Amino acid sequence: MQLKIYKDHDTLSAQVVNEIITVVKNKPDAVLCLAAGDTPRLAYTLLAKMARDEKIDFTHCSFVGLDEWVSIPPQNEGSCHYFLQTCIFDPLQITPSQVHLFDALSKDLEKECEATNKLIVEKGGIDLMLVGVGMNGHIGFNEPGAPFNYDAHVIDLDDVTQSIGQKYFSEPTVVKKGITLGLNQFLQSRKAILMANGLKKASVIRKALEEEIVADMPASIIRMHANGWVMIDEEAASSLKNLRVIQKNAE
Ligand code: F6R
Repeated sequence: MQLKIYKDHDTLSAQVVNEIITVVKNKPDAVLCLAAGDTPRLAYTLLAKMARDEKIDFTHCSFVGLDEWVSIPPQNEGSCHYFLQTCIFDPLQITPSQVHLFDALSKDLEKECEATNKLIVEKGGIDLMLVGVGMNGHIGFNEPGAPFNYDAHVIDLDDVTQSIGQKYFSEPTVVKKGITLGLNQFLQSRKAILMANGLKKASVIRKALEEEIVADMPASIIRMHANGWVMIDEEAASSLKNLRVIQKNAE
């Protein structure tokens, strides 16, 4: 695991963009799985600008959705679909044929999971997974307790996710279940970046990096990833006590 600490969210976001662009330059038909949420929002704005300025070609890339709120339609601005469409796909002019997102309205969510698992295998795996971390340590919607060997699945969202998730919606919205790629797919990705910023993430980052690697703290799995990067700002790193030990273990 690589641990990279940047002075603030702006610098962190710019560096994350560099990583995304490096992956795409090295492999123009890369398969990308990019999280929604507040953490990477600025990075996506910068990505769109840099892609335009430097004429980065995304036309051969594929995008696979990380997760979605079950029963929330894509037109709802709180959905991951809406976020990705407006923050990434529209600005980068990604066509629908390049995108596979979970249909969270599907009557058969198990089939939806199977189709996603199959597509990832057919595409040859995910080249880059960029994830945020929830206040409960979740990655995607892999809530505390989610087994490390799961692929895509439907999950009951825990109370923390249900209440914090309200920040994405314009009105109170019932979100009880999520559909998500699993931690096995996270581990299998060729490169994984866990991104976090701000003081409010300091405690969860400390638990993920300094306590045991356990299912109750899904983000701790980043330490098992063969090419896992933790990219955070100084505020999110501010509760780490054993920085030197973590960095030494990372070598
Ligand atoms: C979103 C996702 C979630 C978020 C996490 C952090 O697609 O998968 O796991 O990454 O809840 O959310 P923010 O970035 O809003 O703090």
